[in-house]
Amino acid sequence: MRSKIVAGNWKMNNNKGETQNLLSDLKKGLPATEAEVIVAPAFVNLAQASEALEESSIQVSAQNMHFASNGAFTGEISADMLLSIGVDTVIIGHSERRAYFGETDDFLAKKVETALSMKMRIIFCFGEELEDRKSGSHFEVVGNQLKNALFSLPEEAFQSIVLAYEPVWAIGTGETASPEQAQEMHAFIRKTLSQTYSESVAQEISILYGGSVKPANASEIFSKPDVDGGLIGGASLVAADFLAIVKAI
Ligand code: 13P
Repeated sequence: MRSKIVAGNWKMNNNKGETQNLLSDLKKGLPATEAEVIVAPAFVNLAQASEALEESSIQVSAQNMHFASNGAFTGEISADMLLSIGVDTVIIGHSERRAYFGETDDFLAKKVETALSMKMRIIFCFGEELEDRKSGSHFEVVGNQLKNALFSLPEEAFQSIVLAYEPVWAIGTGETASPEQAQEMHAFIRKTLSQTYSESVAQEISILYGGSVKPANASEIFSKPDVDGGLIGGASLVAADFLAIVKAI
């Protein structure tokens, strides 16, 4: 079901005490909203977040998981571990995982398959790099990322997937894609889904924009018809900023 979503990807930030403080400020300040609000703290703070938000409408997501169900994968976290602490949403394919940890489309396809088989909801990230945009190949790059990781899935799988378009050149740089650039890419994504699957898949999926979203630019980006919300990095670490972005939707 297509819904408005504001999700905060905390990345490798916030220790236990900082997590507690930020969650408490978010709970206190959460405005009445029709949007789903999601936070993704670090693995070690997920159980704490899940407990702290039990009575709140704010949902908790993991930032990553492994595709294997268990076994000799030192340092990794399984879907079952996440579910056992009440976390049923996971970010897969973030550009930082792709760039710094060598996660390929094929590797991500396996994670997606596992998450779906475990009935988890996926926030699937993708987006072109600066050189792709400069050379005009950004639609092709994004189309291939989607095709390679997702387009072997059956149509019903898309009910459990949220897409997050995050152009790499706009992440943590302060340089946002213009609302028009975001809209253009989101419309392309819907068209691709419609051609590959069906118009209902294209219309029912939520597509978030991520990359330097801030209180100052959020409402303009969110006003675009094919933008259903945002995946927020830096600004999700400051309660007042994240809450202002929630209000902007
Ligand atoms: P920034 O909002 O810090 O640019 O990060 C975006 C992001 O990567 C969210 O996943």
